[in-house]
Amino acid sequence: MRILLTGGSGKAGAHVAAHLAAEGHKVTNLDLVPLGAEGVEDLRADITQGGQVWGALRMYAGFDELEPGTGVPSYDAVVHLAAVPRIGLTPDGECYRVNTVGTYNILEAATGLGIPKIVIASSETVYGVCFADGERLPEYLPLDEDHPTVPEDSYAMSKVANEAAARSFQRRSGADIYALRINNVVEPGDYARDFPAYLADPSLRRRNFFAYIDARDLGGFVSRCLAVDGLGYQVFNVANEDHSVKENTQELIERFYPEVPVRREMGPAESFYDTTRARRLLDWRPRHSWRGALGRMT
Ligand SMILES: NC(=O)c1ccc[n+]([C@@H]2O[C@H](COP(=O)([O-])OP(=O)(O)OC[C@H]3O[C@@H](n4cnc5c(N)ncnc54)[C@H](O)[C@@H]3O)[C@@H](O)[C@H]2O)c1
Repeated sequence: MRILLTGGSGKAGAHVAAHLAAEGHKVTNLDLVPLGAEGVEDLRADITQGGQVWGALRMYAGFDELEPGTGVPSYDAVVHLAAVPRIGLTPDGECYRVNTVGTYNILEAATGLGIPKIVIASSETVYGVCFADGERLPEYLPLDEDHPTVPEDSYAMSKVANEAAARSFQRRSGADIYALRINNVVEPGDYARDFPAYLADPSLRRRNFFAYIDARDLGGFVSRCLAVDGLGYQVFNVANEDHSVKENTQELIERFYPEVPVRREMGPAESFYDTTRARRLLDWRPRHSWRGALGRMT
């Protein structure tokens, strides 16, 4: 597929770019800064500038595309990850502006040009726990995509707004638009650096529902989204299958969620961040776990 990826120079994007390029897709990375990776075309552009976004989607993606003499090809898919990725990096309003205006521009241009598949990054933070003032508990567990999304912070608000915009653009255009409620992204090198602290103090993972997503498995998730057509508008939780701490499910419930209703039987290491929908609709299964990664290092 000919794919426009935004934010491909970032933490998650670099893994998604590498994954898609390795699968043989033609990937153009739209970002403020270049990725500089083999097999990925860099295009410097700002998602908050509508004209730049429209232009980017109507350009040759490399000199090779001049050769056939048949004009600018269309993109088969847009994968939109570019964003201010959390609170605290910019003033709150700027985070909201960049993320909502940028995503509106991507959705408007991609659907306007008839691109049939759009995948956008939403976030676990939409559930309102991650950046809550003080402790806020999930209403029930495991936490599926039907859980209310009423966050208090500008970053998560921007993601809720983007989901609403995506749903509306899907209704008008009929394109497939999948919004990924990505959990905390962990790169392979993060395991040795960060996980010993999580094993010593599981409360460090409370705001992430004790979940995580391996960056390589996120690449696989995007790939499944590109492969599976016809789902219309969808939101998907994205996380690995196990907790990011050594305590088992029952111990975590007793210590952190004693009053939270648990709606179904859960496995001893099963993530509270429910990915049943992705398994069912996308046939996605993660391949990595911190357990294997730390095991290999010791
Ligand atoms: N990292 C996580 O744990 C996590 C969790 C949930 C959701 N997400 C979402 O996943 C996506 C990627 O996150 P990340 O951690 O890789 O972030 P990142 O900051 O590492 O990467 C974001 C990229 O977007 C680019 N960018 C920012 N503003 C831009 C603009 N105006 N125009 C063009 N490019 C711009 C940046 O240059 C950067 O390369 C984001 O949408 C983020 O909200 C991340």
